[in-house]
Amino acid sequence: MMFKGRDVISILDFTSEDLMKIFRVASEMEAYVKTGVDLLRDRILALLFFEPSTRTMFSFQTAMYRLGGKCLVFSGVERTSIAKGETLGDTIRMMDGYANAIVIRHKIEGAAKYAAEIAEAPVINAGDGSHHHPTQAMLDLYTIWKARGRIGGLKIGVLGDLKYGRASTSFIFGASLFKPETLYLISPPELQVKPEVRDKLGEMNINYVETTDLTNVIKELDVLYVTRIQKERFPDLAEYERVKGSYQINRSLLTGVKDDLMILHPLPRVDEISPEVDETRYAYYFEEARNAIPVRMALLKLILLGD
Ligand code: NCD
Repeated sequence: MMFKGRDVISILDFTSEDLMKIFRVASEMEAYVKTGVDLLRDRILALLFFEPSTRTMFSFQTAMYRLGGKCLVFSGVERTSIAKGETLGDTIRMMDGYANAIVIRHKIEGAAKYAAEIAEAPVINAGDGSHHHPTQAMLDLYTIWKARGRIGGLKIGVLGDLKYGRASTSFIFGASLFKPETLYLISPPELQVKPEVRDKLGEMNINYVETTDLTNVIKELDVLYVTRIQKERFPDLAEYERVKGSYQINRSLLTGVKDDLMILHPLPRVDEISPEVDETRYAYYFEEARNAIPVRMALLKLILLGD
């Protein structure tokens, strides 16, 4: 599929070939992550963050600067006309007039899709509620591809809050595009994937197992994708109190795992990976966060300039 002008709303808008194209361009971009390359001079990227962000916002901004472009950054409504009652639709219409592409993060599911319907400029979803976070999945999968040379045929575990986590949902779908040997969905019963995710995995013919028990499966895994329990999305905080701290990865839990097990995490972490794991060969989460730069550079290049 052609990339130029394309919206990025869900990872399922892409095929595994599309993602491989992004990964190949990302590996070309690796040479420029600290020096830059002047491909998008005078192009402007609008970053509209209605929800908190560290990595996603700053890595999009860094990627755009490294490509020679510029950013309009909006984080928090207090200092914009939204504080005066301007609607999301009108805000998008304005930014569409100013920028060449729009990155949006919003707590409402479907916000990015709505923005894409209004804007002529391509819209990139940087997280809509507990729904999708497609560019996070791209850099997660790139991290696997870079280390292992392939993504398909692996045994992949996804751990934590699979109900409210948008990063985990996008990762589950993204990994499924490459046909894992087995996908283990590991969570407390209250935080299992939503029924529509299960339906989609069925439709995609994915061999998946739902379990609460990490210790039973961890030795099988090639990849373990750990996620934070999404406290801010719980309608009832008492429910959060019941499930918080359900899993914690520490060194003793890693005894007997495969030598080349990769532990990923979209970050931020709270207590689900103990800092003692950071020094082990399994920890890939900081590299994963760094991979945001070449992957987002590749995506911006493809969307703004074409293949
Ligand atoms: C994730 C998010 O915002 O969904 N963070 C990120 O973009 N790296 C994961 C999270 O907040 O737990």
